[in-house]
Amino acid sequence: MEKRLKIGLLGLGVVGTGVIKVVAQNSAKILSTTGIKLEVAKVLVRVGEDKKTIADEYGFTLVHDINDITSDPEIDIVVEVMGKIEPAKSFILNAFNNKKHVVSANKDLIAQYGNELVSTAQQNDCYFYYEASVAGGIPILRTMVNSFLADEITEVFGIVNGTTNYMLTQMLENHLSYETSLKQAQELGFAESDPTNDVDGIDAAYKAVILTRFAFKQDLKMQDFSIKGIRGIDLADLELAQQLGYEVKLIAQTKNSNNGVYADVAPKLVPKFHPLASIRNELNGVFIKSLGIGESMFYGPGAGSIPTATSVVNDLTVIAQRIAEKRQVTPFTNYQEQIKLQKANAVSGRFYLALKAENEEQVTKIATILAETDLAVELVEQNQTETFRLVYLTQKITLEKRDKVIKAFRKAEVEVTQMMEILEG
Ligand code: HSE
Repeated sequence: MEKRLKIGLLGLGVVGTGVIKVVAQNSAKILSTTGIKLEVAKVLVRVGEDKKTIADEYGFTLVHDINDITSDPEIDIVVEVMGKIEPAKSFILNAFNNKKHVVSANKDLIAQYGNELVSTAQQNDCYFYYEASVAGGIPILRTMVNSFLADEITEVFGIVNGTTNYMLTQMLENHLSYETSLKQAQELGFAESDPTNDVDGIDAAYKAVILTRFAFKQDLKMQDFSIKGIRGIDLADLELAQQLGYEVKLIAQTKNSNNGVYADVAPKLVPKFHPLASIRNELNGVFIKSLGIGESMFYGPGAGSIPTATSVVNDLTVIAQRIAEKRQVTPFTNYQEQIKLQKANAVSGRFYLALKAENEEQVTKIATILAETDLAVELVEQNQTETFRLVYLTQKITLEKRDKVIKAFRKAEVEVTQMMEILEG
């Protein structure tokens, strides 16, 4: 008789529904490659959630108590696609403590509580895979594990939040407001239920934390790096950047050198010739610089039901394959807890700087501050409506100097309406 692995699925939202469909559609292929049939046996939903139609169609049992899954000796693997921290964290720990393997797409949880989850998985000899937690459908984590073994990654950066990339594309191409483009991203199911984490760069930062573990084997913490999103970004800045030969993209970046790791999340000006500049809408792209391969880019859907679910089901298939081959359980990646961080005076870049001055006096003050801080700039726009708008591109400066300049403008009550780094090609 064919061997079966029974799955308990936690959550039946956008991704959970996709997992049901992808398992059903690929069941025969998975059986022929692994010799194992994957079967979603039970699905945990909230009391009052009406999921009877899909449960009848695909033949699984709906349950409301996590213990109906974790205490069921027939369940082999738990798939967590509920999102957020609790109760997902307790449910996953419960699953490991009951010797169930776990697949999760939960970047919030893995970025913040990865160490506890990974060590509990190891103590219980369980697999813990989470490919779908970064860049949805792009198989980036396993690629870093398997295909860079003979290489050394020095830098990983890219577009890892589908919602904000969709918004930036729609604002520019269809002249939509920030609010309208966000509403559309929510309607299309890309955004989180509360889109704060998307627009404030936090979702991208969670993914940067996970990418850093895989790229550099170091454990970046959320408090270790600067995180800025696109909240309230002005269409005028997107349009001016385009005229200057750039696309504005929310970039998550992590790089490693002898001086340590530097990471940040921020909207940046990406030169139009760079492959990341052409990534539109909810698509994601991860660009890797490494000593051996040089430059490589991985591109695909970063959000959405079926792409994300396909990544989850691929993790399930890898577990099935390893079980079939009676392989020893090993962690997805090994990373040490200590991180060596770069100092702000060791990191430098060029910046797009947009200022708002209330009156002529403030315009003069801007010139004084630029002289006093010895900041060489190129003026790329100056206009006056009720107030004055001045936009500059700076020379290469350290982050320490950037912060000093911002402080000087603040002190003079000149509003810095936007400051974005120009990504090096
Ligand atoms: N809200 C996330 C995004 C979903 O827009 O990228 C995928 O992680």
